[in-house]
Amino acid sequence: MKILDEPDNSRRRFLKTAAAGLSWLPSGAGYAAGSDVIRIGLIGCGGRGEAAALNAMNADKGVRLAAMADLLMDRIQEKRTALKLRKPDQVEVSDERCFTGFDAYKQVIECSDVVLIANAAKFHPLHLRAAVEAGKHVFVEKPHAIDPAGVKAVAAACELAKRKNLCVVSGLQSRYHPGYIETIRRVQEGAIGEIVTIEENFLRAPYVLYPRRPGLTEVEYQGSNQYHFHWLSGDDVPQSLIHNLDRASWVLGNAAPLKCHGMGGRSSLRGEIYGSVFDHHAVVYEFPNRVRVYAFCRTIPNCYNETSS
Ligand SMILES: NC(=O)c1ccc[n+]([C@@H]2O[C@H](COP(=O)([O-])OP(=O)(O)OC[C@H]3O[C@@H](n4cnc5c(N)ncnc54)[C@H](O)[C@@H]3O)[C@@H](O)[C@H]2O)c1
Repeated sequence: MKILDEPDNSRRRFLKTAAAGLSWLPSGAGYAAGSDVIRIGLIGCGGRGEAAALNAMNADKGVRLAAMADLLMDRIQEKRTALKLRKPDQVEVSDERCFTGFDAYKQVIECSDVVLIANAAKFHPLHLRAAVEAGKHVFVEKPHAIDPAGVKAVAAACELAKRKNLCVVSGLQSRYHPGYIETIRRVQEGAIGEIVTIEENFLRAPYVLYPRRPGLTEVEYQGSNQYHFHWLSGDDVPQSLIHNLDRASWVLGNAAPLKCHGMGGRSSLRGEIYGSVFDHHAVVYEFPNRVRVYAFCRTIPNCYNETSS
């Protein structure tokens, strides 16, 4: 991680190192002109959204959490209370700045200098594009998109951000981790010889499932349980295995796979309440030079767990 050493650059250092704990950003300021305050707005008040807001506030005392959005008001209130306890002087989210519903992202974008997007992946391209079009810097969680239309929209939003000198920071955190950076450098320099095969594992317990509550519409229920619905999350390859695949691509010189084949299924998550995702996947990716990546992810309880590259 690059730390700048000029004495009065805390704003820029924040933007270089923080919008949710990550560290790559192009040069450019993200704070309101003439002010020491950076207003961040959070879209998606789950576990990651809370942590991303905390990361950003840890980076600089001038960072203020100014607005929050979620499909459910109780999630906003729970995270607002928890964050206020940790950062009493930096959480400035009045009731009027708590927004619910599928259009809530628009209001958060309006109230913020930097937008943190940590909601269901299906919406990441839409919200990223809206934030960039509004001239805001963005931290967007992985997966940035879960279908070809979304990927194209994200690529276009990043192009637009470049033209506007705005920052877009990705939640693929391995790229900012000093240990990974050094390891990948050494491997690429030949420390372990030529790479012919890579094995990737993300074997874990199931995602939390929130009970269905009276009063929620079906789409609110699914939206607030995104990990269990593939149209929202993309299922577990873009959710969990994405970190491993990002590192595999990275070590192979940012190569993209030429083709893949795989299989998956559902053996433990039974019943309508568990939504539509599989609980195990195995995918073989073929990269240039016949390098194969064997990738496995699984979300079944009481099994052998391993997260490794
Ligand atoms: N980089 C990492 O290592 C890492 C770790 C965990 C999660 N994540 C990513 O962060 C994102 C959020 O993860 P999480 O664990 O907090 O999920 P979560 O399901 O616990 O929380 C997401 C929240 O977003 C809300 N939401 C869904 N759609 C919305 C919409 N259209 N507008 C506003 N709010 C909406 C939901 O109600 C929910 O409260 C996911 O994309 C996930 O993959 C990244």
